[in-house]
Amino acid sequence: MTHDPFHPVHRPRRLRSTPGIRRLVAESRLHPADLVLPVFVAEGATDPRPIASLPGLVQHSRSSLTDAVQEASELGVGAVMVFGVPLTKDATGSGALDPDGILAQSVRWCLEASPGLPVIADLCLDEFTDHGHCGILDASGRVDNDATLLQYAAMANVLADAGASVLGASGMMDGQIGAVRAALDEVGHTDTALLAYAAKYASAFYGPFREAVQSSLQGDRLTYQQDPANARESVREVALDVAEGADIVMVKPALSYLDVVARTRAAVDIPVAAYVVSGEFAMIELAAAAGAFDRRRAIEEALVSVRRAGADIVVTYWASEVAGWLRAG
Ligand code: PBG
Repeated sequence: MTHDPFHPVHRPRRLRSTPGIRRLVAESRLHPADLVLPVFVAEGATDPRPIASLPGLVQHSRSSLTDAVQEASELGVGAVMVFGVPLTKDATGSGALDPDGILAQSVRWCLEASPGLPVIADLCLDEFTDHGHCGILDASGRVDNDATLLQYAAMANVLADAGASVLGASGMMDGQIGAVRAALDEVGHTDTALLAYAAKYASAFYGPFREAVQSSLQGDRLTYQQDPANARESVREVALDVAEGADIVMVKPALSYLDVVARTRAAVDIPVAAYVVSGEFAMIELAAAAGAFDRRRAIEEALVSVRRAGADIVVTYWASEVAGWLRAG
């Protein structure tokens, strides 16, 4: 006997019928420990400075950094990711290698504010170079991959000495994970973990970040960051970073690259992170401010989509705010 099509046997709606049932069967959820808060710290700042392109975000002073780190820690956020904004820049980004430079100092300030909260330090030269590139340039003005590896190796040890438990290798130089791992191990920093920006795309969505760190970049990063058209290529990038010793691999940006997050999740057994970048943050903030949608629902939906795609760790400027919502229930 055929079934009456007007009285279906299969009723997926059954599992959506109450808040409790929906909560019980949720496949992904947000948890404060899975969220990482990026922070910008400006050398010489006595007060936090608002960033015009990123509503609600600031370049921190030492004291506002301390408050933000303590707040994140109290709310159970998983880690902070630190970016330094130096007062002076030069061709080789030498400020990045200064043990008393803004980034190494900021790492120490974070640890003073909350000794137990992991600090992820950005391992890249772009905030420190006067040309704004992530590496140093050769005589013809091209980013010199192998010369840059030497800078990253030295920078890595400065940041590890400062106490960073994780280094975020974001420069997209070939071989950077292997070179940095070897340099750290050689001096005994064997416990310093490497978060590889394994699949990092040349994205327009970094626009507001470049204001946030006062980037001096002219031109683009197309010779080292990936072409947004490519997904297979990121499988290769991820495999290379795993082979070189990455402890965590990251996809960036997140929201326009959820397919890459899913492929990365399928390809590796180590933790996968994804970075909801400045332009993705700004899109939601500005659209919500214009009344296009409910801000909180849009943020929760965006972040859970990154978890659903397979990321264990979500780097987001909303980390503390969302952790607060989660705690309030
Ligand atoms: C480079 C770096 C960038 C971001 C983080 N690290 C910018 C870039 O590659 O130009 C972007 C982060 C964001 O947009 O939120 N060190």
